[in-house]
Amino acid sequence: IKIAAVVPAAGVGSRMQVAHPKQYLKIADKTILEHTLNKLGQLSELDKIVVAVSETDDYFKALPLLDARVTAVNGGKERADSVLNALQALAQDKPDWVLVHDAARPLVSLEDMQTLIAQCVADGEGGILAARVKDTIKRGDTHSLETVPREQLWQALTPQFFPYQALKGALEQALDNAVVITDEASAMEWARHPVKLVSGRSDNIKITTPEDYDLACFLISKQES
Ligand code: CTP
Ligand code: MG
Repeated sequence: IKIAAVVPAAGVGSRMQVAHPKQYLKIADKTILEHTLNKLGQLSELDKIVVAVSETDDYFKALPLLDARVTAVNGGKERADSVLNALQALAQDKPDWVLVHDAARPLVSLEDMQTLIAQCVADGEGGILAARVKDTIKRGDTHSLETVPREQLWQALTPQFFPYQALKGALEQALDNAVVITDEASAMEWARHPVKLVSGRSDNIKITTPEDYDLACFLISKQES
């Protein structure tokens, strides 16, 4: 079987409130994007890694070539547009499966990625890494209207792993229909494809705010020691 990876890395990182996109912030001696690509690079089952970068991005070109499988394509307006551009760039390759992983999640464990791939391939259906919600969840605006039962609530992580053609078709159709798509699974759910929930480590955080960055610095120093 042929597996490709797609890394959306074309965001501006507005919630991080720094001058340049957050994926180029350094942790220890490398940028966040390099840490993420190093993790994916450990998966020998990947034959291509397509990174979606912004058209105005001058940082990506300046990175050392990390892995011979890495190529770049232009990102789009939203994350889903960036992912779709990368999927379209893979049309010639016709991978069987695609593994989509946020540039902003350098902490993912190799073991979790391997488990996700193995379980999905074995069952012939797509899935995502996800973590059961641990907190008590409130719904409301300024005051709590209710406490939402958390038994069936999961936090969606990445990687998200789906059959290539099905994901490409679902994303194209969902975007054509102006469906709000915040991850690959939301397009697959909308298109009524199965989305397996594969329990993953909750320290696979998406670095979004300055607090996340501080936590990621600690977690990476722990992983590397
Ligand atoms: N992303 C992308 N293309 C976009 C928007 C986001 O490829 N048009 C990528 C980001 O680079 C990131 C991932 O999708 O790796 C998850 O998005 P998010 O954490 O929201 O990153 P940003 O959009 O950059 O941050 P913010 O929403 O705070 O501006
Ligand atoms: Mg965003």
